[in-house]
Amino acid sequence: MEKRKIGSLTVAPIGMGCMGFSHGYGAVPDEDYAIAAIQKAYEFGCDFFDTAEAYGKEMFFAGHNEQLLGKAVKDFRNEVVLATKLHIDEKELTAEKNLSQVIREHLQQSLKNLQTDYVDLYYLHRINEAIPLEDVAAVMGELIAEGLIKEWGLSQVSAETLAKAHAVTPVAAVQNLYSMLERDAEIDIFPYCLVNGITVIPFSPIASGFLSGKVTSETKFEGDDVRKFVPQLSKENIAANQPVLEILKRFATEKKATNAQISLAWMLHKYPNVVPIPGSKNQERILENLAAWNVTLTEEEFSALEAALDKITVHGHRGHVESQQASFGQQWSKK
Ligand SMILES: NC(=O)c1ccc[n+]([C@@H]2O[C@H](COP(=O)([O-])OP(=O)(O)OC[C@H]3O[C@@H](n4cnc5c(N)ncnc54)[C@H](OP(=O)(O)O)[C@@H]3O)[C@@H](O)[C@H]2O)c1
Repeated sequence: MEKRKIGSLTVAPIGMGCMGFSHGYGAVPDEDYAIAAIQKAYEFGCDFFDTAEAYGKEMFFAGHNEQLLGKAVKDFRNEVVLATKLHIDEKELTAEKNLSQVIREHLQQSLKNLQTDYVDLYYLHRINEAIPLEDVAAVMGELIAEGLIKEWGLSQVSAETLAKAHAVTPVAAVQNLYSMLERDAEIDIFPYCLVNGITVIPFSPIASGFLSGKVTSETKFEGDDVRKFVPQLSKENIAANQPVLEILKRFATEKKATNAQISLAWMLHKYPNVVPIPGSKNQERILENLAAWNVTLTEEEFSALEAALDKITVHGHRGHVESQQASFGQQWSKK
């Protein structure tokens, strides 16, 4: 397994999205199981873990997921790359508290939650139009200079927005939606990032489970599961998108791999600057996803897979709520 770069950081080619242990995918396993899952992933070779201050807000409390991750990695914290994210509300800015102070308060809370004194990769979770992005970028530059964070990134942005921030303080990573079902990032994000030395960290790389083949029209989404509201996962669109699964199944059988592994191996082959972060609450599936770094496609296999995918019309998108991109959902998701 060849490691990849995120700015000055070096990580295994697949990271682990920890969100589901606190947020967004319905019932969660107990804490001991979740901590063991993160530790097993580390033992398997995973050294890149993704969380956010917001994960847990609805079901538990803000910071729940960071605290869980902090507990899980405390014995090997310096061996891993921890990524977390902040949201800034303009109402937090007052006559007494400027942007730098607000961001520092968020960071201090994340550091406490994660039981560490630095964050490796600190993302702005969503752009807030009421706060100039250039100002946020400048503060991120200060935090890097002070060693409080190693690198910074943006999430769910267009290439144009990314360029504005990158001009102020070089951005190491952009965390956008990207999978075989959501290929908008191929239009502008990947080309921009390839030229500018930025790593793309796809979230929902297995299309919220769809690409594994385990989500069917009969699957019931319970509790806070965001998939209740994902148009791509409506009964009709699950049925209409079956051709993608048929392609995956064919390659998975040929390569003695799983569907999810082929979907990850495909993007690893396609781009040298991609590090997907699949999410799962299940210890076996976490290792299955990580093991995709052992599934290599030949040029011929990759071209055949690309050609098959290019012929397919994808039905539905994940949801505009995830997006700041003007083009989101228009190019690849044609219905
Ligand atoms: N920046 C952002 O705005 C943003 C937004 C969403 C997520 N994220 C981050 O990205 C990470 C990944 O996103 P995601 O969780 O939506 O991605 P995902 O991996 O595409 O989807 C997760 C879903 O797929 C299922 N799944 C995963 N691997 C599977 C496998 N091998 N076989 C069968 N089912 C499988 C999981 O079910 P089980 O749990 O039952 O295995 C879960 O329901 C999150 O954990 C979070 O850290 C960021």
